Amino acid sequence: MKSIFNKKAEEIDFGNLPRHIAIIMDGNGRWAKKRKMPRTAGHAVGAETFRKVATYCKNIGLDYLTVYAFSTENWKRPQEEVDAIMGLLEKYLLESIEKMERDKVKMKFFGDVSVLSPRLRELIARTEEISKRFEGCQVNICLNYGGRDELVRAMRRYAREVSEGRENNIEEEDVGSYLFSAGIPDPDLLIRPGGEYRLSNFLMWQSAYSELYFTDKLWPDFDEKEINRAIAEFQRRERRYGGV
Ligand code: IPE
Ligand code: IPE
Ligand code: MG
Repeated sequence: MKSIFNKKAEEIDFGNLPRHIAIIMDGNGRWAKKRKMPRTAGHAVGAETFRKVATYCKNIGLDYLTVYAFSTENWKRPQEEVDAIMGLLEKYLLESIEKMERDKVKMKFFGDVSVLSPRLRELIARTEEISKRFEGCQVNICLNYGGRDELVRAMRRYAREVSEGRENNIEEEDVGSYLFSAGIPDPDLLIRPGGEYRLSNFLMWQSAYSELYFTDKLWPDFDEKEINRAIAEFQRRERRYGGV
């Protein structure tokens, strides 16, 4: 029998996986800087890392993966960088659409996509349409997403419904149904590469009881082994939800 002491850091119990993993894909810029490359080169490699990680998560049988790709605050970046990220997203979605029939990864988008370019909106709509036919792992891509923006939208919708005759009472369980993540269980494990210890406005409501995992590894250097390390750490945690 294997002792706990010689268990590798990335050895996981596949019978006890989290249902939902959320990832803040951070560190692309620094990864590029370290190599004296433009920040956008880091975003390009980061997109490939995402493809690899999403495929891995699907293969191990994860139910939900939610990734932070562009926040409501990221518009503050130089226009060239924002344009480059949007260009990469287009390229990424086009390639994904071609491979979707083979990979069968179900994709959804969280965030206000209405302000994105018509081309990007069209690709998003097509990706979601094709995805409807797939079962299994669901990957949610947060684009122009902010946890606070999501709650403000929820409040506005609720207020509108009340003014239109909805009963004026709301319970904790109801709040979730107004969010982009309606119907999806909260993330069990939230991973942030890149060495920062903050949530940066990601899944503010949903992460109330998520297990948080931070690592200095930069997102473009992430791989299956890093995901396993995070899962292994998750499997060592004791979730108490305020109990004993
Ligand atoms: C994450 O990497 C990607 C986006 C926020 C779009 P960063 O671009 O934030 O990389 P760092 O944090 O500057 O290294
Ligand atoms: C969070 O990373 C957003 C995404 C990864 C999409 P940031 O790089 O924007 O976060 P801060 O600015 O360090 O908080
Ligand atoms: Mg960053």
